[in-house]
Amino acid sequence: TKNTLIAPSVLAADFANLQRDIEMINNSEADWFHIDIMDGVFVPNISFGMPVLQAISKHATKTIDVHLMIVDPDRYISTFAKLGANVLTVHYEACNHLHRTLQAIKAEGMKAGVAINPHTSVKVLEDIIQDIDLVCIMSVNPGFGGQSFIEKTYDKVYQLKEMIKRCKSNTLIEIDGGVTNKNAKQLVDAGADVLVAGSYVFGAENPTATIADLKQITK
Ligand code: DX5
Ligand code: ZN
Repeated sequence: TKNTLIAPSVLAADFANLQRDIEMINNSEADWFHIDIMDGVFVPNISFGMPVLQAISKHATKTIDVHLMIVDPDRYISTFAKLGANVLTVHYEACNHLHRTLQAIKAEGMKAGVAINPHTSVKVLEDIIQDIDLVCIMSVNPGFGGQSFIEKTYDKVYQLKEMIKRCKSNTLIEIDGGVTNKNAKQLVDAGADVLVAGSYVFGAENPTATIADLKQITK
């Protein structure tokens, strides 16, 4: 049995009841908090920024997984470390010197993640996979919650898993976008280690039970 990590995406929480929703995650079987930072430039949406993350960090009792959908993320690496990020993920498409960016993230004591858009092949990561703690495969175009899952993702997970094994790396595979009880098992079977779920969790009548259900079906 596997210990698939479940990471509810706070983007889908009720921002007027943020503390309540954070406590829900704290008291659930969820493993990580997934935090989406969008700048309105890299993606066509603006989510929330540093003051909100600071407020979340104050209450969260689990690993904080920050997904930066911003241009030139190097500018803010030390800021996110100070705000309590444990995993910091940058977009492959937003980095001209990815190797340097990953070293800078690790130098701040965080795990270093790389996210790839649906149009980006996992193959571009071959020469850097050993330096990456986590690859986030986007299974929707980044920018919004509540979109539908792109089926091609299964192939990408499988290919990436093969690459990780071949390179004897410890890299985790995270899937982000449109995750539900319909695709969770197949994703884990293909090699996924971490599943992000936003609207599926927070749109449910019972988010705590929905998290437990995701945990159960991915064992
Ligand atoms: C999309 C974000 C995702 C989003 C997932 O740009 O990176 O983390 O919150 O939301 P759902 O699960 O609703 O697709
Ligand atoms: Zn995300």
